[in-house]
Amino acid sequence: MLSKTRILVRHLFLPNPGGGRETIEAYERAFAERVGSACCAGFWKGRVAFFAVLKALGIGPGDEVVMPGYTCVAVPAAVRFLGAVPVFVDIEPVYCTLDPDLLAAAITPGTRAVVIQHTYGYPSAGLDRVMELCRSRGLPVIEDCCHALGTRLGGRHVGTFGAAGFFSTQWSKPYTTGLGGLLVCGDRDLHDRVCRLRDAEAVSPSGRSAAQLALQNILHALLVYPWTTAIAREAYRGLTRRGIITGSTGKVENLRWSPEYFKRMCAVQAAAGLHELGRIAEALEHRRRVTEYYLSALTEACWRIPLPVHDAEVALLRVPVRVGNKDEVLRIADTRRVEIGDWFIRPLHSRLTAQEVFGYVPGQCPQAEKAAREVINLPNHSRVSLGCAKRIVAFLRETCRPA
Ligand SMILES: Cc1ncc(COP(=O)(O)O)c(C=O)c1O
Repeated sequence: MLSKTRILVRHLFLPNPGGGRETIEAYERAFAERVGSACCAGFWKGRVAFFAVLKALGIGPGDEVVMPGYTCVAVPAAVRFLGAVPVFVDIEPVYCTLDPDLLAAAITPGTRAVVIQHTYGYPSAGLDRVMELCRSRGLPVIEDCCHALGTRLGGRHVGTFGAAGFFSTQWSKPYTTGLGGLLVCGDRDLHDRVCRLRDAEAVSPSGRSAAQLALQNILHALLVYPWTTAIAREAYRGLTRRGIITGSTGKVENLRWSPEYFKRMCAVQAAAGLHELGRIAEALEHRRRVTEYYLSALTEACWRIPLPVHDAEVALLRVPVRVGNKDEVLRIADTRRVEIGDWFIRPLHSRLTAQEVFGYVPGQCPQAEKAAREVINLPNHSRVSLGCAKRIVAFLRETCRPA
């Protein structure tokens, strides 16, 4: 933690904390190597990486982009910013990923791409079938890997199955650089198109916003622990609303296009990311150990837990659990300072934005709506010790009604 803080403090005093092309390129190479992809391109956020690849694929007004109806609202927002239309497919109820049995019916002559999402870190269900169907229809698959750094299927890292995969390094993700997005792709030609687009059209973060991000990273490293999460989250949202700090999502960011949206990565993010990649194996091993504890303790308590995925190494970002009294559990958790996550609170996760804006019709994805009502998630990050995980399981046993 101290060495990351030192790196960030050093960046605060650089003449141009937003620049640093060499650091960014080194980070892109290291990330591509980590996931076993030929190429990588860095961006300000995961959603921006997704936007860039859609644009590089030529997706534009009226084109349909199929995606699971259980996602972060930033995903359909990126599609809408190109004038394209998000088409939502319901999820299967076990891993909360796109239901492969429903995909064929969602594809029309207007479909130009399919997004799959490795939710919570579980590989998207029926991946082979989905890939085969899309190959037969000539459709590129884009993998949303924002939760899934470290997940492999048949030895292959997620993000390398489709035309491209995008990752996020926002606060709650497998490692954090405050904000951050990485696009990986195996096709050098597509990567070149993405980079040309970025060079021609993306804006650079200002020195001020890069320095602000460095400072926020330092505060996060020093202050955010499982028992401070609830307070930190509220403070973060309040300060973001007042425009004092750089939030994950601005008030109208997902609603209104602004040239500020299509933003490059800055050196602060790359330096923090390089540092985090250097210790990622250890961090993932910690997550695996805590996850294993949760799963065995919950199985012992007769909770329904997703079955292990065949031939996969699953790196869960958070451990999803279904309960019958989600709102109550979250409320009590906040008052007792127990870190319990709420993703996704709606089929298109957002506190701020109405689902209908993105073309989601209530009732359209019943499994996604049920998951939004029932799923809470348990933390397994580096600040959650086994002792802390035990207290969380005891809390669940005391407060939760099974779904
Ligand atoms: C599944 C999923 N996709 C995309 C995103 C967007 O990532 P970012 O916040 O880096 O733009 C998120 C972020 O929370 C996410 O959870």
